[in-house]
Amino acid sequence: MGEATERYAVVTGANKGIGLEIVKQLASAGIKVVLTARNEERGLHAMETIKASGLSHLVMFHQVDVADATSVASLADFIKSECGKLDILVNNAGIGGGAIKDTDLFTSVLFNRGTILNTNDKYGQSKPYRGLDNPNLNN
Ligand SMILES: NC(=O)c1ccc[n+]([C@@H]2O[C@H](COP(=O)([O-])OP(=O)(O)OC[C@H]3O[C@@H](n4cnc5c(N)ncnc54)[C@H](OP(=O)(O)O)[C@@H]3O)[C@@H](O)[C@H]2O)c1
Repeated sequence: MGEATERYAVVTGANKGIGLEIVKQLASAGIKVVLTARNEERGLHAMETIKASGLSHLVMFHQVDVADATSVASLADFIKSECGKLDILVNNAGIGGGAIKDTDLFTSVLFNRGTILNTNDKYGQSKPYRGLDNPNLNN
């Protein structure tokens, strides 16, 4: 279980591109980040670049395919056990409608207050996250 004073983030589709860069930026700010990828091999390869950046002590890897409910539930369990809370969710995985925005999953990981960044939404189509008490929604 993580420290209450730490801040924790999850970034989906983070093995490359914008997602990987967001992971680096968050970790550079001292935030503990779960780098996720649908393909474990590609995710672990991304973790090598994190290691080369000297940020590996702040970044954990977990596989998640955002289109697969079982996989998302496994991520939720991981966050519960390793972090105990989630402060920032970056919906970045590049598929239409498959991003992790499901209130059932993320209220279940104590995501009561925090920030959601939807880099994968086009033209500001995100709706407020109803599972949050006081969301900050950034598209
Ligand atoms: N680049 C831009 O100018 C731009 C502008 C506006 C919005 N966006 C959005 O920002 C996001 C990131 O863009 P990008 O240019 O960095 O894209 P990218 O390089 O194509 O990366 C997309 C990421 O999403 C992952 N992904 C796709 N389907 C997934 C799934 N079912 N579960 C988990 N991960 C999945 C990909 O994994 P794999 O490597 O396994 O395929 C990859 O890691 C995208 O959603 C894109 O639509 C991009």
